[in-house]
Amino acid sequence: MGEVPRDAFVPGSALAEAYGSGPVVTHRDEAGVAISSASAPGVVATMLEQLDVREGHRVLEIGTGTGYNAALLTRLVGPSGAVTSIEYDKDVADSARGALSRTGYEVELVVGDGAEGWAATAPYDRIIVTAGAWDVTAAWRDQLADGGILLVPLRMAGLTRAVALRRDGEVLRSESLEPCGFIPLRGVDAVAEQNVWVGGQNGDLLLRIDDGGLVDVEAAGRALEYPGAIVWTGIEFVMPEILDFWLARLPGFCRVLASRDAVEAGRITSPQFPWGSMGVVSGGTVAYLTVTADFSQLGVASYGPDSQELAEQVSAQIREWKADGGPRMSVSVEVHPAGAQPQPDTWLLLVKKDSTVMITMRGGDLRQ
Ligand SMILES: C[S@@+](CC[C@H](N)C(=O)[O-])C[C@H]1O[C@@H](n2cnc3c(N)ncnc32)[C@H](O)[C@@H]1O
Repeated sequence: MGEVPRDAFVPGSALAEAYGSGPVVTHRDEAGVAISSASAPGVVATMLEQLDVREGHRVLEIGTGTGYNAALLTRLVGPSGAVTSIEYDKDVADSARGALSRTGYEVELVVGDGAEGWAATAPYDRIIVTAGAWDVTAAWRDQLADGGILLVPLRMAGLTRAVALRRDGEVLRSESLEPCGFIPLRGVDAVAEQNVWVGGQNGDLLLRIDDGGLVDVEAAGRALEYPGAIVWTGIEFVMPEILDFWLARLPGFCRVLASRDAVEAGRITSPQFPWGSMGVVSGGTVAYLTVTADFSQLGVASYGPDSQELAEQVSAQIREWKADGGPRMSVSVEVHPAGAQPQPDTWLLLVKKDSTVMITMRGGDLRQ
């Protein structure tokens, strides 16, 4: 990263931004939504470490963006390796091609839908997806050499983690998981989350529901018409990486975001994190994690006809989690071909289009 000039890949950005710690957005759609960016350098570095690229490797990248990560990959694989990168957006690909040729990094650049991979130069020792994916496509698995690693920011029940998955025959098993946020993949296989606004003129709460078929959206939209409840758990504040997966098994699991106005005006209790805390929708009632003002204790805030009951249920789940190992637990992910049956220790089963994702939690006495 010290050698590859990031500023050459984000032309038009000030040097302080090009070498800052944040992502640099390079393209937006008509509505102003970011559709391409150079990812934050910390995320790029973490993902490259997870990918464990060696000299001589053949690597496929999905989501060329600025071309910066592809350039880094060429340095890691060296002259005996090869890097192919696919970009969906022709304009974005043209800019990346320009930057790569000006800087002299050799990448085979393809314009197309990365969901299909690129069979012409398969198999690959490593595949890295640099946009958020809902599914692990059959093409990625089939084009990965046995023993190779696929690194993908995978959305699982709304939780996105950069998962390094090693191929073992038809199954991919996780070697590491890192929290991350990504611009979603576009194309035919894109699966959007469902957004449900609750209360207020423009919505005081936003529910982001991943597999939302079971949620009564209309009833949930009226949740703030009922008095709220808060139940404190007695559990100290924790970062949510592990707890999220524990709660993800609850039916109606979602992420809850709050409007700053509504929190500041005291209309609603602030979620644990303004950018999204874990929550649950059950009938017309919504519950989500919150924290005391001094950040010492986790609680559950709830609105709707059964607010007290749902808050107590979620709070009981958090206490069970703590009793079973809490933050000491580990999470692992297995990706099987579509139609696979869950294994006895599967904590969470996610049925996707091309794959079945099985999540296991270990580290305590897990009840089935
Ligand atoms: C966060 S950016 C990638 C950052 C990039 N690796 C870099 O180093 O700058 C995500 C990119 O994925 C691209 N993308 C989205 N859907 C895609 C798809 N189905 N196939 C290929 N690229 C896709 C977007 O156009 C965007 O350029």
